[in-house]
Amino acid sequence: MSTITIIGAGSWGSGLSLLLADNKHTVKVYDLDHDLIEEINTKHTNEKYLPGAKLPKNITGYHDLHKALLDSEVVVTVVPTKVMRNALKSVNKALDHSVIFVNASKGIEPKTFKRVSEIVYEEIHPDKIKGFVALTGPSHAEEVIQRQLTTITAASDHLELAKKVQVLFNNDEYFRVYTLHDLTGAELGGSLKNIIALAAGIIAGLGYGDNAKAALITRGLAEMRRLAVKVGAKEETLFGLTGIGDLIVTATSLHSRNYQAGLKIGRGKNLKETLASMTMVVEGARSCEAAYQYAKDLNVDMPIVFAVYDVVFNQREPEEVIKELMQRNLKSE
Ligand SMILES: NC(=O)c1ccc[n+]([C@@H]2O[C@H](COP(=O)([O-])OP(=O)(O)OC[C@H]3O[C@@H](n4cnc5c(N)ncnc54)[C@H](O)[C@@H]3O)[C@@H](O)[C@H]2O)c1
Repeated sequence: MSTITIIGAGSWGSGLSLLLADNKHTVKVYDLDHDLIEEINTKHTNEKYLPGAKLPKNITGYHDLHKALLDSEVVVTVVPTKVMRNALKSVNKALDHSVIFVNASKGIEPKTFKRVSEIVYEEIHPDKIKGFVALTGPSHAEEVIQRQLTTITAASDHLELAKKVQVLFNNDEYFRVYTLHDLTGAELGGSLKNIIALAAGIIAGLGYGDNAKAALITRGLAEMRRLAVKVGAKEETLFGLTGIGDLIVTATSLHSRNYQAGLKIGRGKNLKETLASMTMVVEGARSCEAAYQYAKDLNVDMPIVFAVYDVVFNQREPEEVIKELMQRNLKSE
């Protein structure tokens, strides 16, 4: 059994802490939100992010990062991507030994287009990192917290490390972990699908039906594949759990914050109002900003991503943008 520190005790951090406690590891969680840490330690609940859920009593919350990292063998990052770099700077300062880094957040850094693995290697001193694994796939915290059946992928450029993380997180009863030897594909799949989920919410908010949703998921996947392959991902990764798998769960479920945000935009709210009305992180908007610039720079055709960008950042009417998408030159699939 291992000692594992989770950075970020929100929805997914709490879901993973329950899983790791079920797997009999020593689980330490750290969060900037002192009240949340207090609640986890005294009431064993997380009412803000997972109302009604009961957390195992052997999960210990910390608001002192150094104490949270003491004796830890594995550090799991689960904070919104926009604060990831800052969170890692703090971890680097507080950490006094070498650990395996596992990232469970999903997103690309706008402007730099960096994936989380790249940010980790930039911010963590080489003496403090044994390697990096991305834990990603179709997984809603709301279902994992109820121990519902889930599959996910441990992806790394070092297969041996992925196998180690697979064993730490796998639970025979409800959480099956596969390994994947394509870190780039896994990280990009997990980030880009959030943009398509935003779009799925927008078309649902506008009142379109299942035909439009199926079209969006299929053509959205084609765009995800185009960009990911261009930057070195394996094509088949996009057809696995971290690609189509995660896309299906995010673009078809009310549990998805990205889908919910899209729904509000489709019903007439703008991005600012939408984000203000949501307690939880919406990664799709920032990933859209990054993917838009990235695709333009690399000359990759991503009409759906460009359309979402237009609606979200240029406040264009969704109906007008959809009309343009439908009126593009005819082509083969
Ligand atoms: N919620 C899910 O079902 C789910 C599933 C898979 C992946 N993810 C991904 O996980 C990431 C986190 O999502 P979430 O839903 O848990 O978000 P959330 O908003 O529920 O929680 C984020 C938590 O991070 C904490 N935090 C912020 N900055 C911090 C810092 N510097 N140090 C420590 N803690 C900090 C916040 O206080 C909050 O408790 C996102 O990238 C998301 O895409 C979420």
